[in-house]
Amino acid sequence: MVMSYLPSCFFGALLFVTFFGNLYPGVALAGVTRHYMFNIRLKNVTRLCGTKSIIAVNGKFPGPRVLAREGDRVVIKVVNRVSNNITIHWHGIRQLQSGWADGPAYITQCPIQTGQSYVYNFTITGQRGTLWYHAHISWIRATLYGPIIILPKHNESYPFVKPYKEVPIMFGEWWKANTETVINQAIQTGAGPNSSDTFTINGLPGPSLNCSANETYSLKVKPGKTYLLRLINAALNDELFFKITNHTFTIVDADASYVKPFETDTIFIAPGQTHNVLLKTKNLTSNTKFLMAARPYSTAAAGTFDNTTVIGLLEYHVDNITSNSSINTLPVPPLPPINATTYIANWTNQQRSLGNSKFPANVPQTIQRRFFFTVGLGTNPCPKNQTCQGPTNATKFLASVNNISFIMPTTALLQAYYFRRGNGVYTTDFPNNPLIQFNYTGTPPNNTQVTNGTKLVVLPFNTTVELVLQGTSILGAENHPFHLHGYNFYAVGQGSGNFNSTTDPPNFNLVDPVERNTVGVPSGGWVAIRFRADNPGIWFMHCHIEIHITWGLRMAWLVMDGKLSSQRLLPPPADLPKC
Ligand code: C2O
Repeated sequence: MVMSYLPSCFFGALLFVTFFGNLYPGVALAGVTRHYMFNIRLKNVTRLCGTKSIIAVNGKFPGPRVLAREGDRVVIKVVNRVSNNITIHWHGIRQLQSGWADGPAYITQCPIQTGQSYVYNFTITGQRGTLWYHAHISWIRATLYGPIIILPKHNESYPFVKPYKEVPIMFGEWWKANTETVINQAIQTGAGPNSSDTFTINGLPGPSLNCSANETYSLKVKPGKTYLLRLINAALNDELFFKITNHTFTIVDADASYVKPFETDTIFIAPGQTHNVLLKTKNLTSNTKFLMAARPYSTAAAGTFDNTTVIGLLEYHVDNITSNSSINTLPVPPLPPINATTYIANWTNQQRSLGNSKFPANVPQTIQRRFFFTVGLGTNPCPKNQTCQGPTNATKFLASVNNISFIMPTTALLQAYYFRRGNGVYTTDFPNNPLIQFNYTGTPPNNTQVTNGTKLVVLPFNTTVELVLQGTSILGAENHPFHLHGYNFYAVGQGSGNFNSTTDPPNFNLVDPVERNTVGVPSGGWVAIRFRADNPGIWFMHCHIEIHITWGLRMAWLVMDGKLSSQRLLPPPADLPKC
């Protein structure tokens, strides 16, 4: 990785190099370097009858697109002009040898402080599709997020019909209150955080209130064409169903990996996940409107999450006669029940890697290290002289992996490791298995207390890993969308109840399992993933439900260097922020 140290005016000028048009002319050459300048500033935004100051990129909400082709280098200078600390994570980008550009605060870097800047520099290798970027510190990602669009290499095409147009659709979650206040209050009391007030489609909440009628996202289409929708769930805490009345989708991609195309009329998408889907428009002969809708899937108790429905429009433009159907009279597409866990299991089972000779599924067939991690909620006792509002009013909510709630260090793990100053910052004794075994999905134990620590698993370069993530029912079973930084993995098996190490592995799909960076650990069940640890560095792994990260549902893998120079983590860039 070659670092560029160019004056910021240079980046500013290059920002205008990228043009959009007949899909994306201007993106013609292969393996070029694309420069972006991200100014992180406050922006006033009016939603749901109120104006709020939010943290945004270049005055845009959602943030601007990052557009590249597979094989390109992307150089993004991030300047922090707000009073909060900032980092940005390029969610799903492999970051081969470039862990310094990954972005999670206190894992791979110290935060960019007010008035400071940092240049993220990485090459997109072996990926094409949709990913996204988001702030990776506290709950700043509530408003700081945007799409990453990775086109196939020059002269390569999609393994499906060429779309007429491509449209990013980002789902988000909106609080009228300041989200930093919401999370700080939850940490203080130990209770669950206040729920959001609405969901959004491309930043817009839809006509749920009279005053928000013109805050409705509208997808304008022509009849008889194929549109590629690039779906991204950027919501903080909620997994979502999505549907458009009287339309179906063909899923062609998951987390920037092609899948065997399959049809559905209802999409399920968890925070952190992306899907490219084809929408074939009908051969209508007059202007017509349909509603699109998204709302959560949840097994949590009613009242503990936002169960509103966000509405958007699909508008056919055929002639010049305006359709006078009012949005309030159009039928809302019927979505599965809120707690439709079986729908999720069937949905996940339909996903298969494309797995052809050009895009093979390189599933590790022999496994060197096996891990079994329990994931779920738990508690810590209320500190003396405090009042707490967690379970039994004498505890604070926490969450854990193998009953360890991960404590964030105050310096970045990757720096500590690289400069051999890890002593006192982290330990390398993260357990391979839970220390106490119990019926994970049955009646939970009375003792819900977790331990706390900054523990890592060390993996020699190129280790093949199988990891079973087992959900627990402690303080309620929930689906946990688990995200691994620095890797894609194959989801080789899933099931409900407790994983059985004798009877379940023979059913694993080692031929064409879906390749992802974020996979759901089913509510009251388990998922098995495989990956090859061929990217040296320290890689965060966590539930992508933000309140669960806050509570400690996170850990990290330390992958050692290999022998060849192409197998080593490169030295840190000179502008790497200091803590
Ligand atoms: Cu998209 Cu560590 O997260």
